[in-house]
Amino acid sequence: MHTTSGLDLDGRSALITGVSGAIGSLIASTFVERGARVAGTYRSREAAAEGALAAALPGRSTLFRAELDSAPSARELWRRVEEWHDMDTLVVNAAAMTHAPLAGDDTDAWDSSWERSFQVNVLGAATLMREAALSFSQRGFGSIIAISSWAAEQGSRLPDANAYAASKAALRNFGQTLARSYARDGVRVYVVAPGVVGGGMGTSGLSPDEIQAAADGLAMGHHVDPREVAELTAFLATDRCPSLTGSTIDLNGASYIR
Ligand SMILES: NC(=O)c1ccc[n+]([C@@H]2O[C@H](COP(=O)([O-])OP(=O)(O)OC[C@H]3O[C@@H](n4cnc5c(N)ncnc54)[C@H](OP(=O)(O)O)[C@@H]3O)[C@@H](O)[C@H]2O)c1
Repeated sequence: MHTTSGLDLDGRSALITGVSGAIGSLIASTFVERGARVAGTYRSREAAAEGALAAALPGRSTLFRAELDSAPSARELWRRVEEWHDMDTLVVNAAAMTHAPLAGDDTDAWDSSWERSFQVNVLGAATLMREAALSFSQRGFGSIIAISSWAAEQGSRLPDANAYAASKAALRNFGQTLARSYARDGVRVYVVAPGVVGGGMGTSGLSPDEIQAAADGLAMGHHVDPREVAELTAFLATDRCPSLTGSTIDLNGASYIR
């Protein structure tokens, strides 16, 4: 077993997608703090992505702009990243939140919401995970951490987020297949299922009153802190509990208990 000391990620090389986002930026900065070499991706917010990796020592981080909405784009990203450095950790964090009314006749919104959610959250993400598993299995070691959502477990509480929730369930399910298939090859696959997070998709577009109303409806009375997602992801990347492979780890403050 390749363990690290404490929560130290020294010696790890991680590709983290979506480091320009609320959660991805904290995952990236936490990995950097713990000593990992980090390749990060962004789609449109370059300055935010640069900020996430700002504390990295020279030569220990790099950024790739990537639109991860197809299998070829995911394969191309993996190729470019491994040209930079061999990876042993992949964090699939980038995702698209889409909305479409369940009722009514807006079929354009329905079509584009389902296409976009499944292109980015399933096809791009699963292809990247497949590429990583192939590389990691050849080397006999590697961890893949997929950021799913509690919506994958219980459907979305927001009816318009129907495609997003279904796509996150598909991502979790693929992670389970990958975990089983590579369990003897040293490849671990973990799924993290955050509840409503205080930042990013969890609060974007909402007024302070709407954010407070959402918090009031949660068991702990407040959102999940995005730093907790980063902490949990960094812990999983240490590989200190490899028998967690295949698991979905809930992080929702008791608002949803299986
Ligand atoms: N926030 C929550 O309440 C919550 C709850 C449960 C699970 N999650 C999950 O946590 C993860 C991060 O969410 P977040 O709240 O941090 O979201 P966010 O702030 O909106 O960040 C999303 C990230 O994904 C990137 N991205 C979006 N579409 C992309 C595409 N087509 N190709 C490549 N990159 C793309 C964005 O890049 P640019 O910004 O550069 O365009 C950004 O870096 C997601 O997987 C989400 O499903 C979030």
